[in-house]
Amino acid sequence: MGTMNDRPARSDALVVFGVTGDLAHKMIFPALYAMVKRGVLTVPVVGVASSPWSVAQLRKRATDSIRQSGAVVERRALSHLLSLLRYVSGDYHNAGTFVALKRALGKARRPAHYLAIPPDLFAPVIKGLGAAGLADQGRVIVEKPFGRDLASARRLNVVARAVFAEDAIFRIDHYLGKEAIMNILYFRFANSFLEPIWNRNYVASIQITHAEKFGVNGRGAFYETAGCLRDVIENHLFQVVALLAMEPPAYRGYGSVHTEKAKVFEAMRPLKPRDLVRGQYGGYRKEPHVARNSDVETFCAVRLFIDSWRWAGVPWYLRAGKCLPETAAEVLVELKPPPAQLFADSAPPAGLANYLRFRLSPNAAVALAARVKHPGKEFVGDQRELYLIEELVGAESPYERLLSDAMIGDGALFTREDAVEAAWAAIDPVLNNHPRALPYKRGSWGPKQADALIPAPSQWHNPTRDETTT
Ligand code: BG6
Repeated sequence: MGTMNDRPARSDALVVFGVTGDLAHKMIFPALYAMVKRGVLTVPVVGVASSPWSVAQLRKRATDSIRQSGAVVERRALSHLLSLLRYVSGDYHNAGTFVALKRALGKARRPAHYLAIPPDLFAPVIKGLGAAGLADQGRVIVEKPFGRDLASARRLNVVARAVFAEDAIFRIDHYLGKEAIMNILYFRFANSFLEPIWNRNYVASIQITHAEKFGVNGRGAFYETAGCLRDVIENHLFQVVALLAMEPPAYRGYGSVHTEKAKVFEAMRPLKPRDLVRGQYGGYRKEPHVARNSDVETFCAVRLFIDSWRWAGVPWYLRAGKCLPETAAEVLVELKPPPAQLFADSAPPAGLANYLRFRLSPNAAVALAARVKHPGKEFVGDQRELYLIEELVGAESPYERLLSDAMIGDGALFTREDAVEAAWAAIDPVLNNHPRALPYKRGSWGPKQADALIPAPSQWHNPTRDETTT
């Protein structure tokens, strides 16, 4: 961990490429506003995009975004943010854009450049920054998706590393900025009771579900280039897997966490087509900008193995999808049954196995399910949950947390080059070689075939809106 003396310098400006876009409107302006309110954003914010806007238009857009986000709008904080905004318009392939950016940055020497732009523009912008001398003491924050397969992720890493040092590159996975996800790391290593059972001897399987009730919501063009496996599983869910599966970090400091996470990705057995069930909700092909014969998956279920000492033989089941019955995300760690079935009702399928459940969204909670006896002469009982709920009132939003961290050079909650490449390597074999996407009804839990990935008596656990019921 750094000391006061070697603490990296604060960025003295934030540049937002793609400032007129959707992501900026939905997530970034509200995050910047929250940062201003908290007093952590006091430097100029230079928006860059191709539209020939005036700074007044940008201010209007920012105000609109913040109002729509539902934040309590304090006039002083809002006008402070608006006063920090500057705007540069130009083509990202044109060197003149970067000259104009340099001018707009004025005296700032250590800008943090945030690329909230389509992935095919990452490389030209990074090169443009390098050529204009805007990278020397700067940082770059790269939105997902970081590559669309192993080869493109490698190429992008080469481009980025030619211009920026690894510790000046911040690859965003906004999941890492979520409290419930950070709590997985904390819960595992701040408690002692878990470690003895956290392995192949006691854990039967681990499943992670990320369900969304809504469809692609106008993002058909993007979805056609991505699909659920790339959009959610390879990054967000894999990050959750890494935090659940990693070995204890060898020292106190995030370098060690990154190393242990990278080892998990390296130990993942590359997927085979039979490890995958792909689905597509009814009506997806009628969404704007979607091919009429599209085979892109809006649902994906995966069976994964991590060939490490700790996890050998334990299946990991990951599932994500759109137009499912709920918007909720959960991890379920299913434990093995007791070695002897002393009570008629105490083993599956009669009773669900003991489990640990991490509720990731919409709220954060941890539940441990264990059986307890009913009063009476018979030795029968049922499974109940010990339930820990975390109130997230006042928590920073992921983008607020991640942008402020990047601006002070704290790479803890970002992904490292080796980890990104190892994660792609695990799914690379099935990116093009996979079963066809099976149709499923909107509002269902995806194609029935996904159920067959999990052998009985175990089965998918469907998260419910009321997180206290299972
Ligand atoms: C994004 C995906 O990265 O994550 C979206 O592109 C998805 O398709 C979203 O809906 C889910 O994030 P969250 O924070 O809403 O769970």
